[in-house]
Amino acid sequence: MTQASHDWWRNAVIYQVYIRSFADGTGDGEGDIAGLRNRLPYLHDLGVDALWINPWYPSPLNDGGYDVADFRDIDPRFGDLSQAKALLDEAHGLGLRILLDIVPNHSSWDHEWFKQALAAEPGSPERARYIFRDGRGPNGDEPPNNWRSVFGGSAWERITEPDGSPGQWYFHIFDVSQPDFDWSNPEVRAEFLDILRFWFDLGVDGFRIDVAHGMVKDMTKPDIPYDESGLLDRPKIADHPFFDRDGVHEIYRGWRELADSYDPPRLYVAEAWVEPPERLARYVRDDELHSAFNFDYLKAAWSASDLRRSIDESVTVLASVGAPATWVLENHDVERVVTRYGREVTAAGEGSSRIADGPVDERLGRHRARAAGLLMLALPGGAYIYQGQELGLPEVLDLPEDALQDPVWERSGRTRRGRDGCRVPLPWTIDGPSYGFGSDGSWLPQPDGWGALSVEAAEADPGSMLHLYRTALRMRRDIPAAEPVDWIQVDNPDVLAFRRGTGFVCVVNLGAQPVALPDHRQVLLLSGELTEDGMLPTDTTAWLAT
Ligand code: GLC
Repeated sequence: MTQASHDWWRNAVIYQVYIRSFADGTGDGEGDIAGLRNRLPYLHDLGVDALWINPWYPSPLNDGGYDVADFRDIDPRFGDLSQAKALLDEAHGLGLRILLDIVPNHSSWDHEWFKQALAAEPGSPERARYIFRDGRGPNGDEPPNNWRSVFGGSAWERITEPDGSPGQWYFHIFDVSQPDFDWSNPEVRAEFLDILRFWFDLGVDGFRIDVAHGMVKDMTKPDIPYDESGLLDRPKIADHPFFDRDGVHEIYRGWRELADSYDPPRLYVAEAWVEPPERLARYVRDDELHSAFNFDYLKAAWSASDLRRSIDESVTVLASVGAPATWVLENHDVERVVTRYGREVTAAGEGSSRIADGPVDERLGRHRARAAGLLMLALPGGAYIYQGQELGLPEVLDLPEDALQDPVWERSGRTRRGRDGCRVPLPWTIDGPSYGFGSDGSWLPQPDGWGALSVEAAEADPGSMLHLYRTALRMRRDIPAAEPVDWIQVDNPDVLAFRRGTGFVCVVNLGAQPVALPDHRQVLLLSGELTEDGMLPTDTTAWLAT
């Protein structure tokens, strides 16, 4: 392997496979490895470099598989280890690398260690792998403190001791079925290094690290003065007791040593919802993780000033530690971009935007999503595409209440519907059972007419989002990867225009009026049509050769 091929991730496009909803090869209504293997040629043709597969480990699926019962196996619903090996071989044969999702902050309550902890005594080594504490109040009836789960409700759950008496409490940042590990325990640290080794030895190319800013806690901290912060948003307090604590970096230095001991070296991507970008940069210092999702960019408004701010900040701050920027618009935790940008009203000329409360304009959202996709793929560094983003799938906002699976729904007292709307199984065909997903039914209902957004429909339409992504991904290989964003001065605050090297220009018009294109030799790619007189209309991106 050459140095260059070791650095493949620096400008890679990584496609996120939410395996339960990608393709169902066994006909049981849930996606699986068999379905993914069938569709590898599709992903290869799309032109991505690697796949990140959401958790496929044995799990009661209380939190979509982020509640892991055994970190060294695969849930029978998704397949088995021999199929995983076959998948790795086939993907590698097509030049696609595979990242898995490691969930080190917590396990499922079905994990053997947690069962042992419940059966053991307070103070035992079995309990010491998790975070058990006595309750407050005379009989220990009150939780140890007021800390809340990000899914809603208390972050503490009381157990019944083996002798039947009301017992200790255990800590869970997420669902009650996801007890947090105690990372101050060397046994936990050793166990995870061993789990990483297990998958690296099987041939896995790297890991996306779930809640990479969790793990290390200071359980001695006092109650938190809460405001009404949202899902996965950390309360804005300094020195947070369970997020982004400095001690987590030492863990990653050890993980990096392990990844570097492999040939080729393995890769880590952090899911870390931290602010400001300087804090994120700490995760990707050169002896820690390789890259991190750029959630600041994901949250940016569809406005020239906000996007430019986010791009500049991300590039500058990450460059200070030698890490490439990454760009992401969607994942399995956030509203689909077609819907998000279809809600957002940009006050043109003011460079500001606000979120509309009114109905979603999907046509507008899709138009902007096309422009946003081309902008993202023109930027230097790595990019992520969430399955279905390339089809322009919207958020499914009207899933019936009895179909909702996200624990957020119940834990929020049915006030937040949660994240199921971006996890609806993919439509592969225009008609047929489950629109080609693979069986008569699917674990989340697909809306009527879902087939109009299918891969089959998109293939047949030269103007589809799928063709746009495919072409962009092909052309992106010709943009000189090392060339930074070089802004072109335009005297219109609603237009973003930048050069990469001498030959490539990207222009995005986020304003209300059409604008003239800068000097160019050739229009390479457009997210929408030019006006009759060759101007770039509202919410449109152009790639130009100069
Ligand atoms: C991450 C995952 C999310 C999951 C949570 C708890 O944020 O992306 O889906 O619910 O961690 O594991």
